[in-house]
Amino acid sequence: MEILGIDIGGSGIKGAIVNLNTGQFVSERHRIPTPKPATPQVMANTIKELVAFFNWQGAVGCGFPTIISDGTCMGYGNLHEDWVGVNTAKLFKNATGLDFTVINDADAAGLAEMNFGAGKGKKGLVLTITVGTGIGSGAFFNGELLPNFELGQLLYKNGKLIELYASDAARKREDLNYKRWGKRFNFFLNYIHTIVAPSLIILGGGISNKFYKYEKYLDSKTPILIAKAQNNAGIIGAAIAGGR
Ligand code: BGC
Repeated sequence: MEILGIDIGGSGIKGAIVNLNTGQFVSERHRIPTPKPATPQVMANTIKELVAFFNWQGAVGCGFPTIISDGTCMGYGNLHEDWVGVNTAKLFKNATGLDFTVINDADAAGLAEMNFGAGKGKKGLVLTITVGTGIGSGAFFNGELLPNFELGQLLYKNGKLIELYASDAARKREDLNYKRWGKRFNFFLNYIHTIVAPSLIILGGGISNKFYKYEKYLDSKTPILIAKAQNNAGIIGAAIAGGR
C-alpha cells in the first residue's frame, strides 16, 4: 500500500508518497516553507498545495508538532496559538477532500524508527527523541506507541521548558559549543532516566548526525542508538499512521 506522508514542522512542510511495506519513498520528497504566521487557514492552503503537487487522491497521514488527541490540537508547539482546539484532520479534509490521520510529529518519527529503523524488534520502553526546533519524543512499550509522551515539556532552570535549553535551536540561538550544549542534553537524558528508566533511547533530528561531537559529554545510563531514517522519519511515520 502507498500513502502520502506529510511532516509539518516549524520551518518546513515536507511530503512524499511512501510504500508501507518497505518504508521507502516512491516519489520525490517535496518541501514547502512553513507560512508565517502559520495560522490554521493559511496552513490548510499549504496542505492543499502539497497534495496537488503529488496529484494525490488517497488517504493521507500527517505529523503535527504538538499534542494531538483524536485529530485535535491540545497546544500549538512552535506554530500559531490559533491551533489550540482545532481538529486538524477535519480542517485538512475540508481543504482537500481527502481522509487525513493526524498524529504528533515525534510519534510519527518514532513509528518510522520502530518499524523500519533502529527500533525494529526492540522490546521494553523505547524512547525516540527528535532534537530540532523543539524536542519531540515518542514512547513505545514492546513496540506499541504510547501517544503524546512530551518529554520536551519537562522543566529545566527557572521553571522554563527543557526544550528551550537543550534543543538544536537553543544551541544555534545561544551559539553554544558542543561541550556546553552536550551538558544540557546530558541533564535531560539523566532526568528521563530518573523518571522512567527506559531500556533504550533512539536519537534523531539534525543533531543526531553530530553525535561524535558531544558523545563524550554524556554519561547516559540508558543505551543510545542513532536514528536511521533521520530527516525522512517524520514523513515515513506519518504515512504509517495514515495507513492504519
Ligand atoms: C512539541 C512536541 C513536538 C516537538 C517537536 C514540541 O514543542 O511540544 O509536541 O513533538 O516540539 O516538533
